[in-house]
Amino acid sequence: MSSPPSPRLLIVDDEPEMARVLADALVDRGFSVDVAPSARAALELFGKRVFELVLTDLRMEHLDGFDLLKQVKALDPDVPVLVMTAFGAIDSAITAMKLGAYHYITKPLRLDEVTTLVDRALDERRLRSRSRAFQRIATERSALGAMVGRTPAMQRVFDRVERLAQSTAPVLISGETGTGKELVARAIHFEGPRKAGPFVAINCTALPESLLESELFGHLKGAFTGATAARQGLFVEADGGTLLLDEIGDMPLPLQAKLLRVLEQRELRAVGSDEVRTVDVRVLAATHKDLGRLVQERAFREDLFYRLNVVAVTLPPLRERAGDIPALVERFFARARERSPSSPVTELAPALVSALAARDWPGNVRELENTVERIVVTGAGPRADVETLDAALADGPRGPQFSVERPLLVPLRQLEAEYIAWAISRCGGNKTRAAELLGIDVSTIHRRGKAGQGGEGG
Ligand SMILES: Nc1ncnc2c1ncn2[C@@H]1O[C@H](COP(=O)(O)OP(=O)(O)OP(=O)(O)O)[C@@H](O)[C@H]1O
Ligand SMILES: [Mg+2]
Repeated sequence: MSSPPSPRLLIVDDEPEMARVLADALVDRGFSVDVAPSARAALELFGKRVFELVLTDLRMEHLDGFDLLKQVKALDPDVPVLVMTAFGAIDSAITAMKLGAYHYITKPLRLDEVTTLVDRALDERRLRSRSRAFQRIATERSALGAMVGRTPAMQRVFDRVERLAQSTAPVLISGETGTGKELVARAIHFEGPRKAGPFVAINCTALPESLLESELFGHLKGAFTGATAARQGLFVEADGGTLLLDEIGDMPLPLQAKLLRVLEQRELRAVGSDEVRTVDVRVLAATHKDLGRLVQERAFREDLFYRLNVVAVTLPPLRERAGDIPALVERFFARARERSPSSPVTELAPALVSALAARDWPGNVRELENTVERIVVTGAGPRADVETLDAALADGPRGPQFSVERPLLVPLRQLEAEYIAWAISRCGGNKTRAAELLGIDVSTIHRRGKAGQGGEGG
């Protein structure tokens, strides 16, 4: 009987001691393990070999774990990436999950937790690669079904999206930050006849004018210094599909003129080229700004505005559709639970849901989503109630912060005790969970926590 080859894992950590302990433990469990001391070294290895899973530290010199995560995901979207973060760095853990990390593990590491997660990630990966249905689910998630909204205002948006999806007219999608503009753009694409074609999005704020131009329209090799290879541009990439110009209000005026030409004639010219080519692209534009006002201020071309604004979809801010909040919370809670299966939170108290529904949410749906995720990630008991809200609010009071910047040296015992007290408060007073996260015994917490000011209340 021949056994299957052992799965190859990649560990990335700039602390060699840490990496070695971890590697030994995983080799003992029958894995083949490579260790990279930096993100750069990891990427080099990744280009040479097939890895079934990557385990990376987040904070490293030069290229950090986030960059590594992004690049690994771009090279192989299926490979699970586990990130290791310092305790208390929940926000970076959430960011990593959003970037596609499979899960995060807080340091100090518990080896049994690591091996359990590795086993689970590999199992899921095997299941997924077997299931053809996965592709279909991914598409459906981008369609209207991904959007929650029962209020009449949102029902009207959905009706409109459904009808617009059938046409090829440009659509201007506006709304405050985090209201779901990108989601609407995707729904317009995936509900319509172009859904098998590409959906390409670009944020017009992110790039300086010259780069944005070549990004959109492409350039020839040698068209400008640094153009060492020709690039076809996003309009060509989106041929047969949809191009979303996000934050269109930030597009520089000269480019607006070029965009107008493409929209009117469906023709474009790459930077440095005389040749004109035709493309079949549906253009969607999104903005959180008042474009009409920008037109009055002459910061946006009037002709382009009318061209883009043939049809408009306006997303109401969340505070004007509080009726949708409970359903959104339910959706985000289920998703956060999926992403953090080890969280003890299994239920949200009705009072908490009401408190969420009563807030104003200046960051709209995205802020609500992040808050629910924080409740799940930081929650200490099975039922999260209103008191978890303050700690979870993105911009709200965060509770005591731990800092090691001090004018004078203090005894290590005292520092330790303060750190423990801080950890307990971060866990909403739950000492058992704090002990678990710190990787020590509850009895140790009781003993050592007393050396400091103690009063953690709970
Ligand atoms: N109606 C909705 N149902 C479910 N999720 C939603 C809904 N609206 C927004 N979201 C979620 O909220 C987050 C923000 O949505 P999206 O990125 O589409 O907003 P946006 O308007 O483009 O934000 P920004 O102005 O910051 O670019 C996303 O994670 C999205 O999935
Ligand atoms: Mg957006």
